[in-house]
Amino acid sequence: MSNSKNRQFLIAARPEGLVKESDFKYVETPMPEPGEGEFLIHQEIVAVEPALRGQMENRANYAAPLQIGDVMRALGVGTVIESNNPDYKVGQRVQGLFGFQDYLVSDGKGMVSRIPDGVAGEAALYVFGGTGFTAYYGMAEVGKPTPGCNVLVSGAAGAVGSLAGQIAKILGAGKVVGIAGSDEKCRWLTEELGFDAAINYKTEDVAARVKELFPKGLDIYYDNVGGEILDIALANLAMNARVVICGGISRYNKSGPIEGPKNYFNLVYSRATMTGFIIVDHVHRYKEWTEIMGKWIADGKLKYRIDMLDGFENLPKGLIRLFTGDNIGKQLIRIA
Ligand SMILES: NC(=O)c1ccc[n+]([C@@H]2O[C@H](COP(=O)([O-])OP(=O)(O)OC[C@H]3O[C@@H](n4cnc5c(N)ncnc54)[C@H](OP(=O)(O)O)[C@@H]3O)[C@@H](O)[C@H]2O)c1
Repeated sequence: MSNSKNRQFLIAARPEGLVKESDFKYVETPMPEPGEGEFLIHQEIVAVEPALRGQMENRANYAAPLQIGDVMRALGVGTVIESNNPDYKVGQRVQGLFGFQDYLVSDGKGMVSRIPDGVAGEAALYVFGGTGFTAYYGMAEVGKPTPGCNVLVSGAAGAVGSLAGQIAKILGAGKVVGIAGSDEKCRWLTEELGFDAAINYKTEDVAARVKELFPKGLDIYYDNVGGEILDIALANLAMNARVVICGGISRYNKSGPIEGPKNYFNLVYSRATMTGFIIVDHVHRYKEWTEIMGKWIADGKLKYRIDMLDGFENLPKGLIRLFTGDNIGKQLIRIA
């Protein structure tokens, strides 16, 4: 076993503009060996998310920046294959910040936890993990849908957006409209997920469509993209609207000063709020939300889609797909 190599992708360069395959360096290192109190994890599935690009830059935000030569950071799931730790026996399925690599050693402290029995690895990385709970918390507790309310979601065919729109419906929203970047994505939202309408922002006049679909304005705008689409939403707020700032992917590849929203002053006229959040502040509530969302999934009310890429070599590509819009639902990469 100790002859096996450990494939890794290291950070080779700080990304400029769109993150590129050449920002990563592929290396093979010896498989690590667990010391006293440690165990060896074989990683099977890796999850990518847009925020990882920001962590490749030398900017401190809520997560420490990565350095050139570091193993690329990412959440993943795997199995304990050797153990000197009685709390993590061989065969235990685990999840954590495992990075772009096959194997790693852990002492059980920090970002590693057991995957509950009955939960598939894919689900642990999506609906029953930070991505799924971002959709739940952002919509249910920041957006606060009221019966019959009007809801617009951007990035709607992505991992967070596709859940956020469905959660609004489950909680009693009236009209829920999604904005996404292809006709295929728009059809998926309306034909399979129960969105009332969808707008293809690449081919349609988003401002005109939002006005037409929401003549009385938006009660909730759930923002994953920022930029021009956020500005359009701000121009269409109903009284006491809630603008949920979950993400701003349209800015993630930009360098230099970024223009702020021109229409922010409508928050005043509409007595509206605009609230940002980071889901890692709410980890202590994951168990509670697993129960709520687990019931919706079991009842067929909440659907989720995994976009699985196969092959270790595709790890950088998986991250890039989030910015080219190639993913539908949650982007994961199976490496073993
Ligand atoms: N606040 C938090 O705690 C938290 C936690 C997790 C995620 N987030 C944020 O939530 C957002 C969604 O994350 P996710 O993991 O669910 O990713 P995702 O939506 O599955 O993937 C990103 C999607 O964004 C769209 N996109 C890419 N570039 C765009 C642009 N310039 N303008 C508009 N849309 C663009 C693409 O779809 P199209 O084809 O539609 O363009 C792409 O599929 C991200 O902004 C992320 O940073 C926040």
